[in-house]
Amino acid sequence: MSTTAPSDKTASDVYPPSAEMVANAHIDAATYDEMYAASISDPEAFWGEHGKRIDWIKPYSIVKNTSFEPGNVSIKWFEDGTMNVSANCVDRHLATRGDQTAIIFEPDDPNEAAKHITYKELHAAVCKMANILEDLGVRKGDRVVLYLPMIPEAAYAMLACARIGAIHSIVFAGFSPDALGARINGSDAKVVITADYAPRGGRQTPLKSNADAALLHCKDSVKCLVVKRTGGQTTWVEGRDFDYNELSLEADDYSKPVEMNAEDPLFVLYTSGSTGQPKGVVHCSAGYLVFASMTHEYVFDYKDGDIFWCTADVGWVTGHSYIVYGPLANGATTVMFEGVPTYPDASRFWQVCEKHKVNQFYTAPTALRALMGQGNQFVEKCDLSSLRILGTVGEPINPEAWNWYNDVVGKGRCPIVDTWWQTETGGHLLTPLPGAHALKPGSAMKPFFGVQTVVLDPHTGEEIHDYPCEGVLCLKDSWPGQMRTVWGDHERFEKTYFGDYKGYYFAGDGCKRDADGDYWITGRVDDVINVSGHRMGTAEVESALVAHAKVAEAAVVGYPHDIKGQGIYCYVTLMNGVEPTDDLVKELRTWVRTEIGPIASPDVIQWAPGLPKTRSGKIMRRILRKIAENDYGSLGDTSTLADPSVVDDLIANRAG
Ligand code: WTA
Repeated sequence: MSTTAPSDKTASDVYPPSAEMVANAHIDAATYDEMYAASISDPEAFWGEHGKRIDWIKPYSIVKNTSFEPGNVSIKWFEDGTMNVSANCVDRHLATRGDQTAIIFEPDDPNEAAKHITYKELHAAVCKMANILEDLGVRKGDRVVLYLPMIPEAAYAMLACARIGAIHSIVFAGFSPDALGARINGSDAKVVITADYAPRGGRQTPLKSNADAALLHCKDSVKCLVVKRTGGQTTWVEGRDFDYNELSLEADDYSKPVEMNAEDPLFVLYTSGSTGQPKGVVHCSAGYLVFASMTHEYVFDYKDGDIFWCTADVGWVTGHSYIVYGPLANGATTVMFEGVPTYPDASRFWQVCEKHKVNQFYTAPTALRALMGQGNQFVEKCDLSSLRILGTVGEPINPEAWNWYNDVVGKGRCPIVDTWWQTETGGHLLTPLPGAHALKPGSAMKPFFGVQTVVLDPHTGEEIHDYPCEGVLCLKDSWPGQMRTVWGDHERFEKTYFGDYKGYYFAGDGCKRDADGDYWITGRVDDVINVSGHRMGTAEVESALVAHAKVAEAAVVGYPHDIKGQGIYCYVTLMNGVEPTDDLVKELRTWVRTEIGPIASPDVIQWAPGLPKTRSGKIMRRILRKIAENDYGSLGDTSTLADPSVVDDLIANRAG
């Protein structure tokens, strides 16, 4: 399904690390081999040691207690230890680096001054936010939904929740009121934290009014804490809405971190799967933090004093692990950027790198492809000499984008870490380490420490031991950053991730493993698509479409898209008597944007008088994918369809 499977040509391009990188990086090739072997042969000893990278209130004596056994899936790390995530990300740095910048906030508008927030200031702000939340009635174990722009208050709110033991659930600010409401209700949240407006790319999303609309469908007791970002006009519901800026003037700037068990939930993050509505991925405190901080340090070769910039939004897992938790646990300086790569123009990323002297830069291939198309002059006018490591995440990177990143941005001197992981995995699972591995454009390379990747034959479910080989990517054993359960539905957790291949965690991705043992992700093998680095379930878009009164049936698939990686292709069957018109296409697009959010906006809508179905009524998505991909040569056997002629009709009327 992927547009970017490795071709034979690119598979032979290899970029070994420079002698300087090998000499200075945390991990060289021999160290990687040694540590990886140790992490697999004795995970207890390995993680028993590396668990100490965070501060504990009560040290653990049990390191690993995990089972992937069908019917008995259970994942616990450091289970008898106690600690606090917020104390680890903030308080423990005060003595040594209280005056060091923790967060650099770069606003959407380049003319607005950037903010440098020191660890001391971060501590005060997090404590104030914690006290405000407690005053609003939030207690340990309660859920708090965050619906915020990329502003420092988002980090304060995350860390404040962690401090008092509340569980945060961040909803990306690009989601609609409906999606927000569903997530508030899904986690039974007590408080929603939002802002008046979210400036982005020169425009402003009215977050507060979206939250107002969402809250109409939530319990009356849900409170709304509002951060003033722009000072723009909002409506106000007395008794329900609270002004953060006002309250923080009065709030006490000390709050004692609550002693949390290692396995107490830290956050819930909703993510798309191949069926049904998004599920709440649950991550717990200690294992997640150990894994996020360790991957952050080693994969990006983070060193004291470095300026680290991950361009993701905190609404996605990448922002959780590599803007907030990983970097701050390591006492890093982390950049939070409110804007978009192309505003005011296509040099914004590079201007920000120059301005803040960024050392590690981590972004998504979709952004690189968009910027690549604008021309090199936007990069070349900026001084990028501070850059040392580049990273990508979210989708397979095509060789053209890799080469551009390497040559034009990195000037051939910055290793590119292509990190493969998921919301569910908490942190990187496959990635090169900059001082250890010779890079191959498009390959996510090697498993991180403690990660036991295997390739299974999708038909037999057997492990393939050959090199090279191709199959589905699975994990044979647990790692500390692994999700623990689906919020409120442990059965769904077991079924989704452990139901297909007994005894293995199935990631949903296909892969190739080459003769050197390096991994190449070939894309999702299920009905999850990856649109501009945003993960989306085709089932969600389908259910939004069929909720429209004029739609009888819908089938949604991904198709290769030059910039977005994958686009959203919708086959829509209208109700009897409804005229298919261009206006209706627009209406349905707007409808999906309202139901889910702009990120789910259909790229192509094709009217389908009928959909290809088996005699038992199952839609043959494989065929729909091929038609969307404009690849009719390999439609496969259509004779088992209830009505094979619908395929000809769909081909004849292919849209886009
Ligand atoms: C895809 C994002 C290829 C993959 C961190 C995975 C990738 C899904 C890569 C998870 C990569 C992520 N190469 N594919 N380096 N990184 N993916 O949960 O299909 O938003 O299953 O997590 O993104 O998306 P999610």
